[in-house]
Amino acid sequence: MTMLFDHPEHDGHESVLFARDTASSLRAIIAVHSTAAGPACGGVRFWHYVTEADALTDVLRLSKGMSYKNVMAGLPLGGGKAVILADAQRTKSRELLRAFGRAVDRLGGAYIAAEDVGITVDDVAAMREATRHVAGKAKGVHASGDPSPFTARGVFLGLHAAVRFQLGTDSLKGLRVGVLGLGAVGMKLAGMLHETGAKLVVADIDRQRVREAERAFGAEIAAPDLLPVQPLDVLSPCALGGVLSPEAIEKLRATVVAGAANNQLVDAAYGRLLHEKGVLYAPDYVINAGGIINVAGEVLGDYDEDKAIAAVERIPETLWSIFETARATDRPTSAVADQIAAERLAALAAAPGVRHAA
Ligand code: NAI
Repeated sequence: MTMLFDHPEHDGHESVLFARDTASSLRAIIAVHSTAAGPACGGVRFWHYVTEADALTDVLRLSKGMSYKNVMAGLPLGGGKAVILADAQRTKSRELLRAFGRAVDRLGGAYIAAEDVGITVDDVAAMREATRHVAGKAKGVHASGDPSPFTARGVFLGLHAAVRFQLGTDSLKGLRVGVLGLGAVGMKLAGMLHETGAKLVVADIDRQRVREAERAFGAEIAAPDLLPVQPLDVLSPCALGGVLSPEAIEKLRATVVAGAANNQLVDAAYGRLLHEKGVLYAPDYVINAGGIINVAGEVLGDYDEDKAIAAVERIPETLWSIFETARATDRPTSAVADQIAAERLAALAAAPGVRHAA
């Protein structure tokens, strides 16, 4: 088994906490990639991983992604993420979430937990009973609530900008958009796309959600593994990561990829395959920053919904400048974004005096 320090995804993580609570059956990993910009903030994923090694790889990639996301959005927050390894035999309990909260508390504020796949605002409230280092709360002073509507809004605007850049049209009317994953973000995004006249093709492993999209938006249905190969103008991955493998990229028919899922590229290097194929890829951690932009106000103690919306509406500008640089330098958009994020993080790490306090 790969050890931690030489793990291919370790990438200089500041700390990784393996948390266990026997009474509640909690098994969790909290990864703090960087606190150079401020306290590490990122969601908690509740997922049934096939192996513990898969969970470790996922949390390390997601945590680094949060460092990049936060620095690209200009937020005074570092990057961290947590995974709770769900046991299919046992369900999520308040005791388990409180035990997780105690683990977060042991990090003394270096990591601030929020919602991600499988974690709701109610779950965050349960964690809050054991630690104050949580965000995305439904109630209380500066509570920012569910981040997913803000993520969905940012993805919608970013997708629109990507279409404008790649296809030269300002209208989504009649475009075939494939939404893979109809959860908190994907379903809201599908609604916005439907309202603008896009034709939806959807997939989810949850059949009820698929039926809901079919009923509400007249969406066509595809099998999850076949959605990326459908005749589409835009593919919008909104489930889990790892959609863009070399095989999937080879078969892809869409010329724009713009979605909410984190870590869409199986490997960062595959951004080049998209570039060579002429597919415009909206880097995931740039287009899906809406949720963390909203959560940041709560963490910083100055939550203001209008300010958050205004910041979410700047996501297309950031994407546009990445697209232009990529075109001008003939490089993948993912490589352009990674370079900017890594340089900003290195500059912050070299000047620790300018850190922002939570
Ligand atoms: P969610 O848990 O509400 O929804 C995920 C959906 O994906 C579920 O409907 C699930 O059944 C489906 N799904 C899972 N595996 C699938 C597969 N193999 N094929 C098809 N469908 C599958 O999660 P949420 O909050 O909507 O997040 C979606 C993605 O966006 C995640 O990758 C998350 O990390 C990312 N994201 C979410 C943010 C938020 O504000 N909620 C913020 C930034 C990123």
